[in-house]
Amino acid sequence: MSTEKVVRMGFIGMGGRGTGMMLGEWMYYPDVVVTAVCDQYADRIENAQNEVEKKCGKRPFGTDNYHELLARDDVDAVYIATDWCLHIEIAIAAMKAGKAVAMEVGGARSVQDCFNLVKTWEETKTPFMFMENCCFDEREMVLANMVRDGVFGTLVHLSGAYAHDLRDEITGGRIRRHYRLGEYTNRNCENYPTHELGPIAKLLGINEGNRFVSLVSVATGCFGLHEYANSDRCIDKTLKDRVFAQGDVVTTILTTEKGQTVELRLDTSLPRMYNRALTVHGTKALYEMGPETVFVEGSGEEWDYMKAVNTFRSRFYDKYLPDCWKQDLSGHGHGGMDALEIRAFLDAYENGTPMPVDVYDAAVWMAVTPLSEASIAQGGMPQVFPDFGKH
Ligand SMILES: NC(=O)c1ccc[n+]([C@@H]2O[C@H](COP(=O)([O-])OP(=O)(O)OC[C@H]3O[C@@H](n4cnc5c(N)ncnc54)[C@H](O)[C@@H]3O)[C@@H](O)[C@H]2O)c1
Repeated sequence: MSTEKVVRMGFIGMGGRGTGMMLGEWMYYPDVVVTAVCDQYADRIENAQNEVEKKCGKRPFGTDNYHELLARDDVDAVYIATDWCLHIEIAIAAMKAGKAVAMEVGGARSVQDCFNLVKTWEETKTPFMFMENCCFDEREMVLANMVRDGVFGTLVHLSGAYAHDLRDEITGGRIRRHYRLGEYTNRNCENYPTHELGPIAKLLGINEGNRFVSLVSVATGCFGLHEYANSDRCIDKTLKDRVFAQGDVVTTILTTEKGQTVELRLDTSLPRMYNRALTVHGTKALYEMGPETVFVEGSGEEWDYMKAVNTFRSRFYDKYLPDCWKQDLSGHGHGGMDALEIRAFLDAYENGTPMPVDVYDAAVWMAVTPLSEASIAQGGMPQVFPDFGKH
């Protein structure tokens, strides 16, 4: 790590994630200086300015217009944590303005947007990293080392999920000004594929000699969200009888050029524990996260997967745990992976080396959303997976 350089950062999108990451993770590093913040809401700009000033004594510039932030000379790089629909538009503008980009995760609006993102990077070569923090989680990094070392033999089938009960967040969207409500009202798709797909794609060597060639998606009806919106637990009574487009569970299957399959599950509007449900199955080994689970909402039951995790740890951690996970990361977001992904961005930016999760990764992983939307709308018809040009 180089501490000689200082990266002057602008932050766009000062909601829960943007503010939390700026204060707790980015500002943890001495080579980061916050020079500007941006949000569409005045109170969020002011809150971010106040918090930065409290923490480091210097008040950053604030604006509700991201173009104004991008035009500033005192901004070297930006972190984008707005609604999903704006990520690519802002990232393109930032790259054109010569500002390095750290872009938060979420699905794309369209496949064309993904091509536009890649094209802009190829034209400008402005540093760009897709901030998929799950690629930096401990378990996923151990598995990456094991796959690299041949423990799994030839990979055959991988699966994962974004299984997270978001009914309160989604239905609280109008009151708390959160974008997910609009997404679930208007779209039916695999809307958040990258937390599980990112690590899986890295294990499969997608964009490094392998590529996805097809995708099919199917969706259930919208039962859970509808029931919740009509229950006493929903804080927004105006949502009674709202018709949501988004199905509760979306299942997606991708195939690769090398003959492997990947199964993804979006599962965000039924009662459940959080789970990314990663499975890695090769010709020589199987990794499966957790034993059978029964979770009855409100019963206080705990999902006890520690035994399986302990076996995995005791057998493989000594040899395969990367050095970055041997430091004390307590107190950092998501167990420490947020701090590690930011360090990876800063190191690559400062040293002029390739970003560990690049614009081609972003395009492939984000394209799953519009492709799944098309497949669901056509009753599960296969979609040809676009080729973004890096294999
Ligand atoms: N990697 C992770 O673990 C993780 C966790 C949470 C959220 N996220 C991602 O972070 C992003 C933000 O999530 P959140 O929960 O904080 O949402 P949020 O709705 O709380 O925050 C988004 C913010 O963007 C602002 N915004 C919208 N349009 C804007 C514009 N034109 N200019 C400036 N600001 C604008 C909104 O006003 C809002 O404050 C999402 O993309 C989400 O997927 C990632």
